[in-house]
Amino acid sequence: MNLPTTPFFIVNTDKIDSLYSDMESHFKSKWPEGIIGYSFKTNNFPWIISYMKSKGLWAETVSADEYDLAMELGYKPNQIILNGPVKDHDGFLFAIKNGSIVNVDSNRELQWLTELSLAELAKARIGLRVNFCIEDYCPSESQCGADDGRFGFSYETGDLKKAIDFLRERSIPLSGLHLHCSSKTRSLNIYKAIAQVACEIIKAYDLTLDYIDVGGGFFGGVQGKPTFKDYFDAIHEIIHNQNGINANLIIEPGMSLIGASVDYHTSVIDVKTTKNNTFAITDGSRTHIDPLMKKSGYTYEISPKAGDVDRVGDAILCGFTCMEGDRFFKLNDEIAVGDRVIFKKVGAYTMGLSPQFIEFYPTVYAKIGDEITLIRKKVTAEQFNQLNN
Ligand SMILES: Cc1ncc(COP(=O)(O)O)c(C=O)c1O
Repeated sequence: MNLPTTPFFIVNTDKIDSLYSDMESHFKSKWPEGIIGYSFKTNNFPWIISYMKSKGLWAETVSADEYDLAMELGYKPNQIILNGPVKDHDGFLFAIKNGSIVNVDSNRELQWLTELSLAELAKARIGLRVNFCIEDYCPSESQCGADDGRFGFSYETGDLKKAIDFLRERSIPLSGLHLHCSSKTRSLNIYKAIAQVACEIIKAYDLTLDYIDVGGGFFGGVQGKPTFKDYFDAIHEIIHNQNGINANLIIEPGMSLIGASVDYHTSVIDVKTTKNNTFAITDGSRTHIDPLMKKSGYTYEISPKAGDVDRVGDAILCGFTCMEGDRFFKLNDEIAVGDRVIFKKVGAYTMGLSPQFIEFYPTVYAKIGDEITLIRKKVTAEQFNQLNN
């Protein structure tokens, strides 16, 4: 197959299809009416969102801009979940009035609810984001450790109870709880803890809910890690079998569907040796696939240039930017100008966070079956300038 000129991202739809089919079949076998909302923040590239939509996923949004993007791409409000700590006032009320699932995160959002009529509230689908100390249940696994997550109403301090009372006193129906927890491990224990805490809260405050939203954060098809079946079996066992709670489940996958489904192709354009080092410079950049500069390892393949070329060993693979830190890693393999370096599994928290730094946003292709289709040309200076006018 003739590959396009580098650098570019390529979205492998076969991979999305197989991951989603595995996820959906195990999820729907437990919760036939359950909802799967694609997490826009994980990769907000419009073509990808539309692809997820075509497969039946709802939109999971966390800002007015993401909500507007969902509408722009043809989602109906009643296929959108609105989460997040900084919702805008008008968008929040619009979402509730038009049938979106809205998970309330803060006291100011509780106050905004009082602007709605009882008739509007009666048909609303309102949830509360629960803040609880996941670190107590899964030591060393949570993202924030002993510093606590910062979203939602704290179960332990009584703020969650106050929020529930606030709704009850005003006859505002509570439809669900949202308990996403970001973890370092994505382990089954995280989801068991979420399920356990949800059941505890439902019992403690005598709630009858339509849904429990466990958020995202799953592994997707990673060898040796929990499978979708493992996650859903574990959650179902606790919520349904052990506690007899029949609420629907909502999940908000991002990484587990798109992470492994995108590759980034680059080429080595120069090799140079300095006093202490050897550098292989590519036409790609770490800013595109590790914008937070945190990755400690990459999954990659090298496709060597054919023919007789000068190869060097022990080179540091670098990006095109003028930042000294734009270095990927030290190569084990010998490398030469013209080799292609293909970074795999770079679909999550990459494209959506890529800066327009030095080179504008790169070309993006989709691989559908054996066909490679251009889905967005590299951003031009003219387009970049238009954005700023
Ligand atoms: C509320 C919520 N839902 C879903 C996700 C998606 O998580 P992931 O991309 O790890 O699946 C996140 C990520 O932080 C989140 O905060």
